[in-house]
Amino acid sequence: MSAVKTARGVERLVIGQDTQDGAGVRLTRVLSHDLQQRLDPFLMLDAFGSDKPDDYIAGFPNHPHRGFETVTYMIAGRMRHRDSGGHEGLLQNGGVQWMTAGRGLTHSEMPEQEEGVMEGFQLWLNLPAKHKLCDPWYRDIQSEEIPEVTTPQQVLVRVIAGTSQGVTGAMQREHTEPLYVDLHFPSTDGAVFEQALPATHNAFIYVYRGSVEVLHGDASTAVPVKRMAILRNAGDGLLVRGTANTRMILIAGQPLREPIAQYGPFVMNTREELVQAVDDFRAGLMG
Ligand code: FE2
Repeated sequence: MSAVKTARGVERLVIGQDTQDGAGVRLTRVLSHDLQQRLDPFLMLDAFGSDKPDDYIAGFPNHPHRGFETVTYMIAGRMRHRDSGGHEGLLQNGGVQWMTAGRGLTHSEMPEQEEGVMEGFQLWLNLPAKHKLCDPWYRDIQSEEIPEVTTPQQVLVRVIAGTSQGVTGAMQREHTEPLYVDLHFPSTDGAVFEQALPATHNAFIYVYRGSVEVLHGDASTAVPVKRMAILRNAGDGLLVRGTANTRMILIAGQPLREPIAQYGPFVMNTREELVQAVDDFRAGLMG
């Protein structure tokens, strides 16, 4: 008996753009600027994954943020975080750092490894206008602190945020109600995962190993590796069938429906607020 009665179909597939950020880290921008309205409240998703130190060793030296949250999920590797509030943490294998930039801080995110694989994601989650200038905050969530559940079809679900399969995730957010799960499909083909999702919540999946089919009615849409599938805002959930050892993330949230104004690492509602952010940064008010 499925909890999902009318599965959401795929609106479009998106190929990420290879780019560089920080001091020269190679990454794939999966959710780019042109999708911010469509995928409100999510502003950006970068995927990184390489076993070549030259692709990641330069890291992300000191830089500011204001007006949103960054969620960094480290699948493999070690990254040291330091910020202007004196906070420091080591993000590693399977852990998440959830940082609320609020009114502003500066921080660095630097690899703490000289070889081996570094793989993960950084998601930017918007803050509602009334909370954009809140106090900065962050939480390092170690891998063992992320709730996991295995479905009857043997899909391992890591619940980073929101609720899945009746399991409450490591983080909850009131206004945007983000769902962020990482799915590890079993070593046999064909396991189906289902997740209830309100139709009004914008949702997408990204496959980082293997491949899936999004099932909707009598049809299905194949989603190959390294593709994002934006889900239609119709239906009551997701049904997805994976090939053996597939891994994918599912991200969904309630849109804020507020104007989005971005200038680099600052995301506010108006151009005037961006000018203020730049002035505040130059005046040293972000640490
Ligand atoms: Fe950053």
